[in-house]
Amino acid sequence: MSNYHIKHLEEYYQVYRKSVRNPSAFWEEIAEEHFMWRRKWDNVLSWDFSKPEVKWFEGAKLNITENCIDRHLFTRGDKTAIIFEPNSPDEEALHISYKELHERVCKFANVLKNNGIKKGDRVCIYLPMIPELAVSVLACARIGAIHSVVFAGFSANALATRINDCDCKMVITSDGSYRGAKTLDLKSIVDDAVENCPGVDTVLVAKRINSEINMVQDRDQWLQPLLDEASTDCQPEIMDAEDPLFILYTSGSTGTPKGMVHSTAGYMVYTAYTFKNVFQYREPDVYWCTADIGWITGHSYIVYGPLCNGATTVMFEGVPNYPTFSRFWEIVEKHKVNQFYTAPTAIRALAKEGVSHLEKHDLSSLKVLGTVGEPINEEAWHWYDDNVGKKKSPIVDTWWQTETGGIMITPIAFCTPTKPTYATLPFIGVQPTLMDADGNELTGSQVNGNLCIKFPWPSMARTIWGNHQRYKDTYFSAYENQYFTGDGALRDEVGYYRITGRVDDVIIVSGHNLGTAPIEDTINEHPAVAESAIVGFPHEIKGNALYGYITLKDSGEGRIHDNLRKEINQLITDQIGPIAKLEKIQFTQGLPKTRSGKIMRRILRKIAEGDTSNLGDTSTLLNPEVVESIIEGKK
Ligand code: WTA
Repeated sequence: MSNYHIKHLEEYYQVYRKSVRNPSAFWEEIAEEHFMWRRKWDNVLSWDFSKPEVKWFEGAKLNITENCIDRHLFTRGDKTAIIFEPNSPDEEALHISYKELHERVCKFANVLKNNGIKKGDRVCIYLPMIPELAVSVLACARIGAIHSVVFAGFSANALATRINDCDCKMVITSDGSYRGAKTLDLKSIVDDAVENCPGVDTVLVAKRINSEINMVQDRDQWLQPLLDEASTDCQPEIMDAEDPLFILYTSGSTGTPKGMVHSTAGYMVYTAYTFKNVFQYREPDVYWCTADIGWITGHSYIVYGPLCNGATTVMFEGVPNYPTFSRFWEIVEKHKVNQFYTAPTAIRALAKEGVSHLEKHDLSSLKVLGTVGEPINEEAWHWYDDNVGKKKSPIVDTWWQTETGGIMITPIAFCTPTKPTYATLPFIGVQPTLMDADGNELTGSQVNGNLCIKFPWPSMARTIWGNHQRYKDTYFSAYENQYFTGDGALRDEVGYYRITGRVDDVIIVSGHNLGTAPIEDTINEHPAVAESAIVGFPHEIKGNALYGYITLKDSGEGRIHDNLRKEINQLITDQIGPIAKLEKIQFTQGLPKTRSGKIMRRILRKIAEGDTSNLGDTSTLLNPEVVESIIEGKK
């Protein structure tokens, strides 16, 4: 029996038991047999959740790009590593072999070096889904620079916050990007951002849309001429197991975005191992994850996990509905995709368009379907299963987080019997717990509680960049000796988990995590606004959408309200990005508050959902009369 490749349910249980009985021995074997090390570890695992401090494979030396690229050169040099599928179907796809990827990464790494980037420096990558994005990520890893990819839909302001938070020296961007029928001017967003980033001395610019852009002297450089001149020889920087590999920002319920820091060896081992098993990847399968590399899903399951397994991974630049809603299925047929991994919000959007788009395409290559990012509702699950998978491709509903680095609760394709809306069983080595409000662990089945993890796994984030205390407070303080996920879950009679959603003030809109506090802070900056509260409400396609209750300083005239709504959403677009725009805005006379002044979001949530039948006891509120007026105002 190979522990590396699980093939049936019984084997899953055996390997799972082994992995929790003796985690060090288990992970040592996986690490030793399937990866390339420059030096072996002295110690597999040391940990203390009270600090919190976790170290995996301490003392080991490696470079993750040797594992993702170099070691495949002899056996898979000509195999396609990355298929780049452009936004427009009229542009030809690009097949990048492992050999070419090696060359591209080495050249890019030399460009970074030639521009003063050294091991440990932070490099911000703000690029569309073009090959340069994957290559620049790997080039950073090649020389030990810490990449911080910022999704290219964030505004200049949000970009600047992220650049400054981890003090990036360089920004890599492009002249622009194609997104469906639109082109976006990324470079001017970077220009606006970098104006407020004194630490940035170089901006490298890839050419994608051939637009006229402004190049700032002594700061901006076109990437291609530098690549053309660079050497194809770049020895990998030998890294410690616990050296940071990357920073990736995620929203919290309060405060600035959190720069989650992932380290090298544990992240590599876990993402590779999960990729192989969850999707049952076998050569020469073609795997496609539709996420953007700007999110953790793209880091772990477009770049690192697949490449570490010598897989062929598809990178798609475009969107599901351009030029038509057939685009995804066209790509599946064209590249004979075997594993397809997407988000519930995309599934719902596609389902709404009906099955005619699917019927035009041969989807018989599909073997495994995946979903990630938010709970998948039963209807969407069945639509996916019936029409895309034709009931023969298992759906892996994978629950995990930016913080966890890799998939945590999930079926293993062809092993775990699936159940709609259930993420099912913990992955190998993962020890989930459900906790009640009083801090007691809920044992047994049919229980519903706050989802925690009680034992370290290799790819967990090690800290929040520059703020270890916040890391501790956010994840390790709610329950003693447990990592708290922020999600609620229930466990059924066979031990399957169903994720019920966030239990904090993070709202997931179209699979994107949005903290309410930063949006409220932005709204409150508007001179006409006295205060605001954001809640989520169910949305047919997006899963959740944002509902804003806003009290104005001067309640004003009805006729100005529409303008104000526009202004407020524009402010949010400028400060955060269009993904955080409010779907609905209701101007209120006040917000319901407890006697200690805390906004009662529970009540606001119910009103937004249109369920006012059971608002609970409102008599203890400081201002119970406001509730009636809000219900009235919503009508
Ligand atoms: C939610 C994405 C239900 C959850 C990889 C989590 C899910 C947050 C699922 C993390 C799923 C992710 N079922 N909920 N299969 N996958 N979530 O950091 O609330 O962007 O805490 O990582 O998404 O989102 P993040």
